[in-house]
Amino acid sequence: MDTEQPSHDAVHAASAGRARPRVAVVFGGRSEEHAISCATAASVLRAVDRERYDVVPIGITREGHWVQVADDPRALEIRDGRLPEVPDTGDQVIVPMGGLDQVLRVQRPGEVPRVLGEVDVVFPVLHGPFGEDGTIQGLLEMADIRYVGCGVLASAAMMDKHVMKVIFASAGLHVGPYTVITDTQWRRDPAAALDAVASLPFPVFVKPARAGSSVGITKVLSPDGVEAAVHEARRHDPKVVVEAGVLGREVECGVLQGRGSDHPRVSEVGEVTVVGGHEFYDFEAKYLDEANVRLSCPADLPAQARAEVQRIAAVAFEAAGCEGLARVDCFYTEQGEVMVNEVNTMPGFTPWSMYPQVWGASGMTYPELVHELIDLALARPLGLR
Ligand SMILES: Nc1ncnc2c1ncn2[C@@H]1O[C@H](COP(=O)(O)OP(=O)(O)O)[C@@H](O)[C@H]1O
Ligand SMILES: [Mg+2]
Repeated sequence: MDTEQPSHDAVHAASAGRARPRVAVVFGGRSEEHAISCATAASVLRAVDRERYDVVPIGITREGHWVQVADDPRALEIRDGRLPEVPDTGDQVIVPMGGLDQVLRVQRPGEVPRVLGEVDVVFPVLHGPFGEDGTIQGLLEMADIRYVGCGVLASAAMMDKHVMKVIFASAGLHVGPYTVITDTQWRRDPAAALDAVASLPFPVFVKPARAGSSVGITKVLSPDGVEAAVHEARRHDPKVVVEAGVLGREVECGVLQGRGSDHPRVSEVGEVTVVGGHEFYDFEAKYLDEANVRLSCPADLPAQARAEVQRIAAVAFEAAGCEGLARVDCFYTEQGEVMVNEVNTMPGFTPWSMYPQVWGASGMTYPELVHELIDLALARPLGLR
């Protein structure tokens, strides 16, 4: 970690006449990962250094309402099998538009809006659509509010498994054979789409272009199974990506934006191993069958392969124009090749998730990581960067 650069918190708070910069932790949201986002927010709320920052927790309900939430991590944890949820309190947090100020207000029907205070930076602890896909990033850009993590374009591009591959390939990274089925193509000529898929080497993975957590993904062994898999993927996204299966181990690398014009920083490499009858790292394995998933870090890899994962992670991060953080997932094939699979711009972020784990193995604790991300966000300019 570069310790020579000044921390930006003091500068921001001073300019606003306050002792500490104020961080809004935003979580919950409309995606299928609502509960995990709440649990992650609990960890972040615990980890933020209260001597350094004031914290404003803001929840987004499953319906998409922004509400003020008590600063009580315990209420947001997964306890006794109960999944946490942002309660709809009926009030509404209003984000200022137009950049006149960065003051959040809370409105209740029939009441005068109450000032919640100025916010220096937002930490969006949100995954999936309306969180990790550029939409909330666009909202915050419009409001002239700094935020942790990738900007609009990188978030949107890395949410789309087709656009992501185009960017990887243009940066010289090896992308395996794949085909895309847009909604129009499928409705116009499904037979042609199925023919294009049949020319890929099997097995193939049929995926919604813009989902996460493995939802809607099917591993298909022969062309007869493709049509059903496309229907399944289309339940989640009208745009579908089909790619040739890769035989290999799943290895992951954390990336942090460099300070100033420095290169991105890459972490130790971790590995995900799935056992217990799962065909691949599917939704069940990710969330319901954790006993059969092992995260190991550092991964037991030859030095050259480890360096190649880190190189690819940095290239992918820069090619996509990522900011703040990203986790880059690769396959390490039986032939010894490292191939990029995907970039996650808001990776799982509980203390036991892979991203904090790989940084832990690289010497950065969870609270240090949280501070680093907030400080990187405070340091960046508004507008085009
Ligand atoms: N081309 C592929 N070859 C082999 N396994 C794959 C391939 N694509 C996806 N998988 C398996 O499916 C999982 C989820 O796919 P991924 O593209 O990472 O989607 P998500 O964004 O939902 O995590 C991967 O972790 C891996 O286990
Ligand atoms: Mg993945």
